[in-house]
Parts: sequence; structure tokens; C-alpha cells
Amino acid sequence: MSALSLVPNADRVAADAAALRAPLAIRGLTVSYGQQPAVFSVDMTLRAGAMTAIVGPNGAGKSTLMKAALGIVTPLSGRITAFGAPVELQRHRIAYVPQRASVDWDFPARVIDVVLMGMYRDLGLLGRVRAHHRDFARDCLDRVGMTDFADRQIGQLSGGQQQRVFLARALAQNADLYMLDEPFAGVDAATEKAIIAVLKGLRDEGRTVLVVHHDLATVAEYFDDVLLIATRKVAEGPVTQVFTADNLQATYGGRLATQQIDRLPGAGA
Ligand SMILES: Nc1ncnc2c1ncn2[C@@H]1O[C@H](COP(=O)(O)OP(=O)(O)OP(=O)(O)O)[C@@H](O)[C@H]1O
Ligand SMILES: [Mg+2]
Repeated sequence: MSALSLVPNADRVAADAAALRAPLAIRGLTVSYGQQPAVFSVDMTLRAGAMTAIVGPNGAGKSTLMKAALGIVTPLSGRITAFGAPVELQRHRIAYVPQRASVDWDFPARVIDVVLMGMYRDLGLLGRVRAHHRDFARDCLDRVGMTDFADRQIGQLSGGQQQRVFLARALAQNADLYMLDEPFAGVDAATEKAIIAVLKGLRDEGRTVLVVHHDLATVAEYFDDVLLIATRKVAEGPVTQVFTADNLQATYGGRLATQQIDRLPGAGA
């Protein structure tokens, strides 16, 4: 037993100290849209410079957790800090790509303008778009392989192409924390690889990436850390420690066949 562990609540004190600096720290988060809580009493601390997956079944509260962390939905209770300050004060350091189905892109906007929207803080509400803004926006499109589509209407792109553009807009925000809700839903393998390469690039620059992810088969390959959630938190931590058959059973209940779990890389019990 270490000396530290003799101090009452030493683990708690150490966890709170980490949370003070963390890109995102959530304490006691409960969100309810009606009678039933969608997220119940969740604590989590994101590790800076890591890629973290939020994993759990449909309706587990993954999107709700992200929206609450961004202040888009109001929690019943809980405390959320980003980079050591209330999250409301840190929104400029956070980029968010919502779950695709929730965005309606019927209104007319060119791809390049959608990317420029990511820079509105830099531009100001009435600011003029200057050549260097446009260059940076094109650079962001280039990073997601969408340069050729810059002048197309966003509504005329396929779902996977739109997803790349939303990522370009997030890149244009030049954020420290990137939150993406199911960026790989409905995209082909090439787009998935392209997106993951961009996200790993952000991580390698020291930025923090949080992704709602459904494909259990790629969690170990793509992510450093994982948060398993089923309304309540089941576990959080490094994939190598937390992404276990027992924790997956606890997260998905009977919904996941044992053979499915056995096949997962990194899901040893
Ligand atoms: N705007 C809303 N009004 C009422 N209930 C909602 C609302 N949004 C989500 N819910 C409910 O809250 C629960 C959690 O939903 P949430 O969207 O967070 O789940 P999720 O884990 O993101 O699921 P999915 O994998 O399907 O995206 C669900 O039971 C859902 O029906
Ligand atoms: Mg969701």
C-alpha cells in the first residue's frame, strides 16, 4: 500500500486535481427530458491529448451527454468544466460536429461558406471575409479531401461528403477539444479512414478528441480511451484496461452475443 493511499480520499483528491486541468470534466451529470433520466449521475474526466470514444447502445445517452457538455441541453444537475473553467466560458475552444441526422442542410449555402462559418469568432459577426480566411478554409477542405467541392451547394452533396465538410468546418475553428457525434455513421470505408486520419492528426498535435462511436470492432484500433455508458457510466479509462468483455456485457446487457464480444480486438475479459 502506498503512502498516498493512506490519506483519506487520496484517489478522489488526485482525480479532482486532474479534473481541474482536463479538457472536459463532468461531475454528477443527470439529464432528463421527461420522467426517465437519459443520463444519470455521470462523472467523467477527459484525458488531454487523447482520443476518447463514447460507446453504448442506442438511447444510452451518448448524444445527450455531449449536448449537456456543450450547454445545448440543460441538465437537472451536474458540474461541467472545460480546461479548468465553466464550459460556458470555453466554448470558443471546443468544436462540435453533431449527429448527422440532426442537421437539416436544405438552406442554400456553398461548401466554402459552411467551412467559413467555423471561423465566425475570428471573423466577427460583421467581419469581412479576407483572402487569408478563404485560404485557411480551403486548406481545411483540402485536409478532408473536399477541395473540388468548394463551390457546390452543401445540400447537393452525399451524406459522406457532407460529413467531410462538417469536419472541415470544425477544423476551421482551430479548437483544442473536438467533439464528434457518430462521424462514421453511413460513410464508406475510404471516408472513415480519411476522417480517422484527420482526427489522429489533431490528437498528434496535442488536441483532445471525443467521438461517439458505434463500431465495437474498431474501438481498440482508433481510440486511446473509452467511456462505456448505458444511462449510467459503466466504465472509463484506457481501452486496454476498460474495453473488456465484462464491461461490454454490462453496457449492452443481453443485446450483444458472446461470440461478437470474443471476436473484438482488445476485448479480452
Ligand atoms: N429531445 C428529446 N426529447 C425527449 N427525449 C429525448 C430527446 N433526445 C433524446 N431523448 C431520449 O433520451 C434518451 C437518450 O437519447 P440520446 O440521443 O442521448 O441517445 P444516444 O446514446 O445518442 O443514442 P443513439 O445511439 O441512437 O444516437 C433516449 O431514450 C431518447 O429517446
Ligand atoms: Mg446519439
